[in-house]
Order: sequence, then structure tokens, then C-alpha cells
Amino acid sequence: MPNENELELERQKLYIDKCRVYVNAFQVERGRLPKACVVTFGCQMNARDSEKLTGILVQAGYELSDSEEEADFVLYNTCTVRDNANQRVYGRLGYLNSLKKKKPHLKIALCGCMMQEQAVVERIQKSYRFVDLIFGTHNIFRFAELLSEMLASEDMVVDIWEKTEKIVENLPVKRKYSYKSGVNIMFGCNNFCSYCIVPYVRGRERSREPEEILREIGTLVEDGVAEIMLLGQNVNSYGKNLENPITFAELLKEVEKIEGLRRIRFMTSHPKDLSDELIEVMQRSTKICRHLHLPLQAGSDRILQAMNRRYTKAQYLALVDKLKTAIPDIAITTDLIVGFPGETPEDVEETIDVVRRVQFDNAFTFIYSPRTGTPAAAMENQVPEETVHEGFNRLLAVVQETARERAALLQGKVMEALVEEVNEQDPAFVTGRLGNNMLVHFKADRRLVGKFVMVALDTCHGFYYTGRMVAGRGQAEHPR
Ligand code: SAH
Ligand code: SF4
Ligand code: F3S
Repeated sequence: MPNENELELERQKLYIDKCRVYVNAFQVERGRLPKACVVTFGCQMNARDSEKLTGILVQAGYELSDSEEEADFVLYNTCTVRDNANQRVYGRLGYLNSLKKKKPHLKIALCGCMMQEQAVVERIQKSYRFVDLIFGTHNIFRFAELLSEMLASEDMVVDIWEKTEKIVENLPVKRKYSYKSGVNIMFGCNNFCSYCIVPYVRGRERSREPEEILREIGTLVEDGVAEIMLLGQNVNSYGKNLENPITFAELLKEVEKIEGLRRIRFMTSHPKDLSDELIEVMQRSTKICRHLHLPLQAGSDRILQAMNRRYTKAQYLALVDKLKTAIPDIAITTDLIVGFPGETPEDVEETIDVVRRVQFDNAFTFIYSPRTGTPAAAMENQVPEETVHEGFNRLLAVVQETARERAALLQGKVMEALVEEVNEQDPAFVTGRLGNNMLVHFKADRRLVGKFVMVALDTCHGFYYTGRMVAGRGQAEHPR
């Protein structure tokens, strides 16, 4: 008896075939295949979702294109974590409307986190009637079905689910990079930080079975992937709700055993759940990269509490101490928010104090954006814009100063880099990523993309290096 997952996959395959009938008809009529352009906003989860959506489009026979102008089908995978992400989507929709006027057969679809907000869907239904398909984050595994419905319909197709318990495995995927890949280990979030919309648009936390994760990584490695990024909103709580519970650290130990896999990264770690067991596994590992993204958000205990982050400044600092003692060469990066309701300039000083003490290798600094439906958006003490900007600039200056200082420490070192791409400005150069996530540009043959090489870090340019390739272990071909 096929299980539920296999049945759903079979169903979706039938719809992919249906889409292919449309693609063939398009080809007969126009003498070419239809082109699809998928644009991704937001985080790594969305990027991975887009690879799944693209995989289905490729199976259906679409050709891929980076240009909305030449596309016959445009799909925006949206983000709503901050309002500027939304505004970008609305802005680009105006442009798509003008394209569609010139090219009436153009089909436009929207999916992703923004679509899980009722007000957004209502606005699109009212003011953006030219959109052909809207779906959300919980039903992307039904994309083939929705696409075929859209192709057969004159009206806007809308399918948004409130939630799902389902995790559909083994959908086709078209990876953006041949040598690295994201791997979802869990979906959703249960933390409800008071400013954050993610739990509302991504639903409750669900972990994938470890066997499924290991199988997927095994297949990726067979296909030439050398580096994987395990993805979840809070990877440290992975596995707690599985029928046979397993910790994230235990999962990492299993992933480490996969032969041929060279680098393991993961994102994101919530400080409240980072265990000693995890630090120990990282310390012993030869594959887990010496980089941890550990969002702090704020340094003031009062603000941290109002944010519902469930740790204090002292606890965060103690955790960083423990990490740096166990793994001295670890790079720590973070996310910071300025302008949370009630935040004073003194509170911002607390954040700056943590930046100075931790010496983050990098920090993404955000201006607080009120998100409808979150507790923080309803708080009365919203901070005036001017105060926010003043604090933001003050913080940013320190963040940049410490990041530069940290980067400069690598001067003259020889480190292993995974060559990621040919340099856009000068094709004689390539860009490599070090284990600690730092980028280095150096002269090399473009055929080294996807390979590991040793690079001498000659000149620090603030946040990246230029260097040169040297002989060493990294030059070994990545085993396939
Ligand atoms: N799950 C991750 C974060 C996902 S969102 C974690 O908990 O670390 C990525 C970042 O966006 C957050 O770390 C936070 O810094 C920022 N962010 C989230 N909501 C925001 C809001 N309403 N305004 C400004 N920044 C926000
Ligand atoms: Fe948002 Fe907090 Fe969940 Fe991260 S842990 S996704 S910031 S609610
Ligand atoms: Fe944005 Fe959704 Fe990610 S809101 S940050 S794309 S989970």
C-alpha cells in the first residue's frame, strides 16, 4: 500500500503531466518553449522553497529565465518579515502589470509568506486583478496542481491554507548551485517573539524525520553537493516533537558520517536552546563550519523580555564565552533590531555593549517594523522615527568597526575556500567562501567552481579579502 506521501506525489505528477500538455501546445503555437521566471524574496527557507517550485516548472517543460521581461510565467515567492519586503513586491507588481498590458498571455503568480496574510490577499484581489494565481506557504507541494488549474482558468486562482500538519517529501527540485544546497530540517516556528510574523505565516514547528533528512543529503552528495545548510527557524529545537525524539546535536552527528560531504552549516540558532551537547559536537566535528549565526536582537534585558526572547544579556554573553572557549576560531554573526517599542537610547547602548564585547564577525542590523497581528505592533510606546534612526546609525557604526577588526585578524592566513562563482567584474577571478563565511576573491580558472582550494588571505578590504591560491589539501577533487 502506498503511503500518504507517495499518493500525494503521484497526484502531483499527474498534474505536472497536465501542465506539460499546455507547454507542448504553447510550443506548437509559438515555436518555442514557455519561459518561467521565479523571483525569491526573504530568507534561505524561501530560497529552498523556490528550488522546489522551479523543479516542478522544469519538469513541466518550462525553460527558466532570470528576466521578467522575457518570461511567459512569473512567480514571486514573497517575504513579509519587514514592511519593506512587502513594498518591494507591490512595486514590482506595478511593473508586471505594465508588462502584461504589452504581453497579455503573461501569467503572474504570487506565493510565500506575504500570501498568508489575509489583508494582503484581499488587497491583491481588489487592486491587482491581473494576478493569475495566489497560494501560500503550507501548500507549495500542490504547486503543479495549482499551476494546471491556473493554466485552464480565466479567473484568479486563490488557494491559501491556514495551516498544515503535512510534510511532503521527494518533490522534484532544481538547485541553484551544483555544489551546495539548503536542506530543510524543520518548518514553522513556535517561539512567538513579540515582533515577529514568521510563526503566523509559517505555522507551528514541524520536524522532518531524521531518516528523510539523511536520505536527502545522501542523494545531494551523490549528485555533487559538497556543502549543505540545514535550515529551520530554530534548529536547536529540532526533533523535540518527533515520535522518536532526537536532538539537533544527534542529527548533526549522523549528518557528519555521510561520506563525501565536506561542509555542514546550519541556520538559525536561537540562543535560548543552544545546548552544551551542540557545542561539543561542533568542537569535535571536522565538517561543521566554524561559523554560528546567533541572533541577539537586543542587548537590554527589558527589551529582550518584551521581545519574548527568553534569555538575558548576561546569559547571551555567557553562551558566547562558552562557544569561544570551546572553539576559538569560531565566527559569530547576529541579527539586531533597533526601535522595538519602548526602546530608549540607553537600551541601544546595551546592544552596542554586547557588540563590543562579543566582537561579532558580522551583524544584520534591522529597523523594527511593526507587523500586523503581532503583540509588539499593538504596543503603545512605538519609538519616534528620528530616535530610531539615530540609534540605528550609532549601532551600525560599531557593528562595522568590530566586523572590520575581526576580519583583519585573518590577514596572512592560508585557509580552505569553496569556489562559488566567477567574479562578475573580472572573469579571471573567482569568489570563494571560507568555512567562517568570509568571502575571498582570487585569480583562478573558472573550472574550479564547486571545488575546494587553499587560499592565502593577502589583503583585507573590510568585509572580504583578496588573495591567491596556494597548493594544499583543498585542491583535491571533491569526491563524487
Ligand atoms: N528564526 C530566526 C529569525 C528569522 S527572521 C531567529 O529567530 O533568529 C530574521 C531576522 O529578521 C530576525 O532575526 C530579526 O532580527 C529580524 N526581524 C524579524 N521580525 C522583524 C521585525 N518585525 N522588524 C524588524 N526586524 C525583524
Ligand atoms: Fe521569529 Fe522568533 Fe521564530 Fe525567529 S524564533 S522566526 S524571530 S518568532
Ligand atoms: Fe521572510 Fe518568510 Fe523567511 S517572512 S524571512 S521569507 S520565513
